[in-house]
Amino acid sequence: MKTLKVAIVGFGFMGRTHYGAWKKTPRAEVTAICDSNLSQLSRKVAGNGKDADLTTDFSGVAVVESFDELLERGGFDVADLTLPTPLHPALVKKALAAGCHVLCEKPMALDVKSCDAMIAAAAKSKGKLMIAQCLRFAPAVKYLHDVVASGKYGKVVGASFDRASMLPGWGGGKSWFLDEGSSGGVMLDLHIHDADFINWTFGRPRSVVVRRHVRPDGVTDRATTLYGYDNCVVSSSASWAAAPSFSFEARSFVELEKATIVMDAKRSAPLQVYPFKGRPFTPKIDYSISPYEAEIKAFAAWALGRRESMPITLEDARDAVALVEAERRSMCSGREIVL
Ligand SMILES: NC(=O)c1ccc[n+]([C@@H]2O[C@H](COP(=O)([O-])OP(=O)(O)OC[C@H]3O[C@@H](n4cnc5c(N)ncnc54)[C@H](O)[C@@H]3O)[C@@H](O)[C@H]2O)c1
Repeated sequence: MKTLKVAIVGFGFMGRTHYGAWKKTPRAEVTAICDSNLSQLSRKVAGNGKDADLTTDFSGVAVVESFDELLERGGFDVADLTLPTPLHPALVKKALAAGCHVLCEKPMALDVKSCDAMIAAAAKSKGKLMIAQCLRFAPAVKYLHDVVASGKYGKVVGASFDRASMLPGWGGGKSWFLDEGSSGGVMLDLHIHDADFINWTFGRPRSVVVRRHVRPDGVTDRATTLYGYDNCVVSSSASWAAAPSFSFEARSFVELEKATIVMDAKRSAPLQVYPFKGRPFTPKIDYSISPYEAEIKAFAAWALGRRESMPITLEDARDAVALVEAERRSMCSGREIVL
């Protein structure tokens, strides 16, 4: 039975998070780590989550400083790209051209044109490409999507999505996240998760209108979008303005004709359904593995040919970037953008 050999490229917060998940994945082994800043391997990078693996012992793992050197050495089946967003398109294309399977962190790219080039590169490669929109692998998120899509509780009346984090600074020094040209800012980097869910669950909106708050240093640290749907009010807020002691929280509130559903990871029951008829209930959902671990296990099975398809396609990932692109245009112009 084949074991997948995995190279993690970029060993910051997400690199360490994926490293922890790969370690729990059967028939997969991290055999190489590549980071242009090797001091990251001895650094206790925390990020805003609890999933990062803080190991500093990498015996048995090849450690290299450049992606080209990694490709020259070869000897791996999967390139897991956990790199700053501007590097996604070029390195995805190089890895696909080398015939590797590629898992690339979200957002797919900074703009739709680059996403389309990545999709074209995947079509030509024998390797498989997936964008790590981890929430597609969270069972509670899937439950919320499925129950809305099923129509069991009638039509959607409205929904709101809130995602708030402290200002990202885990990369050390002046973080690349704070440069909108590099990360796409709070809209592309953080809000992409809700943009993907909104597209997936309610379909592409007719229009978007966005309002924001800008810090004295020019960084947009909060933005709220109102989406145009017929007789249904959907809004979403993304914030990097939360206090460091608050860290990170995400909440969803969906009102249907016959039920209200609340998803909030900080509640004792992260997903609760309040039907108009009958008692409120907590759907049975398995929270024992993180969305990152579920995503990497599913990707490994797909790369090994044991799964036919994945819950996120390249077109879905591109469409999420397209929605955020329109939202950023509205954010900067103050105008409603018709899609
Ligand atoms: N899915 C999620 O929940 C989630 C959460 C946070 C970040 N992300 C995404 O993951 C990606 C990485 O974010 P992060 O928080 O890990 O950033 P980070 O700054 O912590 O880590 C990036 C790493 O890449 C390395 N690097 C930079 N240029 C390189 C190059 N040319 N070759 C090799 N290594 C290089 C850096 O030295 C650093 O170690 C981003 O696209 C971000 O949007 C996803």
